Amino acid sequence: MLYDVHFSARGTTESYAEAFVKAFGKDTLSFNWLRKTERKALSLSSDDTLLFSMPVYGGYIPHVCEELISLLNGDDTPAVIVAVYGNRHYDNALIEMKDLLSRRGFIVIAAAAVVAEHSIFPTVATGRPTEGDLGEMRSFASSIKPPYKEVSVPGNPDWDSSTFHGTPFHPTADDRCRYCLVCVSSCPTGAIDPDDPKATDTSLCISCGACIRLCPYNARLHRAEAYEDARKGFEERCGKRRENEFFL
Ligand SMILES: Cc1cc2nc3c(=O)[nH]c(=O)nc-3n(C[C@H](O)[C@H](O)[C@H](O)COP(=O)(O)O)c2cc1C
Repeated sequence: MLYDVHFSARGTTESYAEAFVKAFGKDTLSFNWLRKTERKALSLSSDDTLLFSMPVYGGYIPHVCEELISLLNGDDTPAVIVAVYGNRHYDNALIEMKDLLSRRGFIVIAAAAVVAEHSIFPTVATGRPTEGDLGEMRSFASSIKPPYKEVSVPGNPDWDSSTFHGTPFHPTADDRCRYCLVCVSSCPTGAIDPDDPKATDTSLCISCGACIRLCPYNARLHRAEAYEDARKGFEERCGKRRENEFFL
C-alpha cells in the first residue's frame, strides 16, 4: 500500500502528490493534514511506502505538520519526500523531513524539491505546477524501483525550524462575507472565530491561504498595508524561474 500524506492549503502540493500517486501505480490511501479529520495515527510495514509531501514555509515544513509526524510509525518503511516551494528556495525542508521521518522508522529512498505558485505572492511562479511540472513528477515516480537505498538530500544538518516565526501577512474578510463559516471549518489552526469570521487571530494563523481559496464569496484576501510593497519586492528578488530537482 502507498500512504500519501500531505498538507495542502492552496492545492499545489496536492496536485504534485496526485501526479506521483497515478504514476507509482500502487493501491493508495491519501490524507490531507489540512483537515483535522484526516490526521490519523498510521502504522506502516516494510512492504508499504510512504509519500510525504509538504509545502515549504520559511525554509521548513509547516510547524503544525512537524508535530503531526508523531502520528506516523514506520518499520524500516521506504519513504519518498517532496518539498513544494514558491520559487524562492526549499532551504532545510528536505533534510528536516528526512531526519524527522528517520526517527519514526522510515528510510528515505527518494526526494524531490518542486516549484509551485507562491501562496502568499501568487504573481511569482504563477500557474505552476504546469502540465510539464506534473509530467516530471510522474517520471520521477515511475523511476523509483527496488532495490531501495537511502538517499542524501541537501540542507544544513544543524537545521533549526524554530527560527521561522511566520509571516506578517494574514488574510481578512471584507463585506462580501456572508457568515457561511466555510473559512472557519477549513482553517487548519482554528484561527477564525465563528462569531466574528471577518477577523483572524494572527497568533494562530499560519497564512496558509486555505480560507482565501475556499471562500465562496471571494471575501478573504491579504489586505495589510505593507502587502503590495512586499509582493513587488518578492517578485523582484525571487521572480526568476527555478527548476524542479529530483534526488534518487
Ligand atoms: C507561511 C508561508 C511561508 C512560505 N515560505 C516559503 C519559502 O520559504 N520558500 C518558498 O519558496 N516558498 C514559500 N512559501 C510558498 C509555498 O511553499 C508554496 O506556495 C506552496 O506551493 C504552497 O503549497 P499549497 O498550494 O499546497 O498550499 C511559503 C508560503 C507560506 C504560506
